[in-house]
Amino acid sequence: MADRRSLQAFHPFARLSRLLDRNRPGGAGDPILLSIGEPKNQPPGFVAEEIAAQAASWSRYPLPRGTDGYREACTDWLNRRYALPEGLLSPARSVLPLPGSREGLFFSLLAAAQDHQGAEPPVVLMPNPFYHVYAGAAVAVGAEPVLVPCTAENGFLPDYAALDRDILDRAIFCFLCSPANPHGAAADLEQLGNLIALARRHDFIVAFDECYAEIYDDQPPAGALQAAALSGSGEDALDRVLVFHSLSKRSSAPGLRCGFVAGPAKLIDGIDMALRVGGAGVPHPVLAAGTRLWREESHVEANRAYYRENFALAEHLLGNRFGFRKPDGGFFLWLDVGDGEAAALKLWREAGVRVVPGAYMSEADANGHNPGQRYIRVALVYDAATTEEGLRRIVQVLASDSETPPPASVMAAATGD
Ligand SMILES: Cc1ncc(COP(=O)(O)O)c(C=O)c1O
Repeated sequence: MADRRSLQAFHPFARLSRLLDRNRPGGAGDPILLSIGEPKNQPPGFVAEEIAAQAASWSRYPLPRGTDGYREACTDWLNRRYALPEGLLSPARSVLPLPGSREGLFFSLLAAAQDHQGAEPPVVLMPNPFYHVYAGAAVAVGAEPVLVPCTAENGFLPDYAALDRDILDRAIFCFLCSPANPHGAAADLEQLGNLIALARRHDFIVAFDECYAEIYDDQPPAGALQAAALSGSGEDALDRVLVFHSLSKRSSAPGLRCGFVAGPAKLIDGIDMALRVGGAGVPHPVLAAGTRLWREESHVEANRAYYRENFALAEHLLGNRFGFRKPDGGFFLWLDVGDGEAAALKLWREAGVRVVPGAYMSEADANGHNPGQRYIRVALVYDAATTEEGLRRIVQVLASDSETPPPASVMAAATGD
């Protein structure tokens, strides 16, 4: 596309504002913003307590590597969550705190691009649709983003192995989001292992964006470190693997700006250096709160129950409309509405419901086919009552006249057991 080099070109919300902001929200009630994936739950009360207790350290600059306690809490959580073998990860060498996974994803590509020697621009592989930071980071380092379609036909997972050999050889970096924003598909252990093996054959790094890994129904999605652990021993098992996690979704704390990256020491050192040049670091009080959050599971289970209720409502209200499927993870619906942009405009104008057209999170291929074009992304982040109201309006506006409207109240049915 013409403006491929512009960072803004990839930002879905800038595009959404251009589409909607000239129109007044329609419908009877207040507007419902199901566009932004911002958790509306509150983090546990101990976050505020911990931050207050550490107030004296606001006068200190963040330590680039954070505290031993924070890195140990992250490592222990990874070991528990993914049943990793003893010694795979070293808290001192394999884990780096991040002010959110977004910053880490961006800076890790910046770090990787430092090592590129070739005359041709390097290639960065990413799914299509994609989280805008992947494409933004690629253009920021002068790389060529290669977008690999995720469609219903391929289970919404990018088939990187099917790319031409010369593209794979030019690749320096690859993003995989699992479970994915926007469609919620998660790769299984074999698929994760296959991608790691491909990266090693063609010498590129894979950034596994697992920031939605803790939001699932009953099956915890597999993690790339599990697959890495099966691929070798010691540090070799981590070769070319970076895994990003965050408290933003897990603990409903996106404002905390707290996450981490795990991987081989050499790559972690490179990201550390890039962050020392241009990053903010994670403040001491935030690290203290984050340490407790990674060690506490009951609030995460409560979060899962909150989203479970919303997905039960969606299942009940949408049924088999719009290709509804429960995602493997995350809190988005990816609905096939025929023309996502037209549907988003109609929903805003007629019902005051704001959603993201799928095409704003994806790009057309050389044949003009955009894998997101038919879809809208709907964030189920509000409480059940607001979610129900938003979904009901979506069905009323988008379902064809011949279809049966949803029942008058589904709360009892959807939350019964
Ligand atoms: C796919 C994906 N990755 C990363 C992030 C960044 O999250 P954070 O920086 O809050 O950890 C987001 C945020 O919405 C996301 O959707």
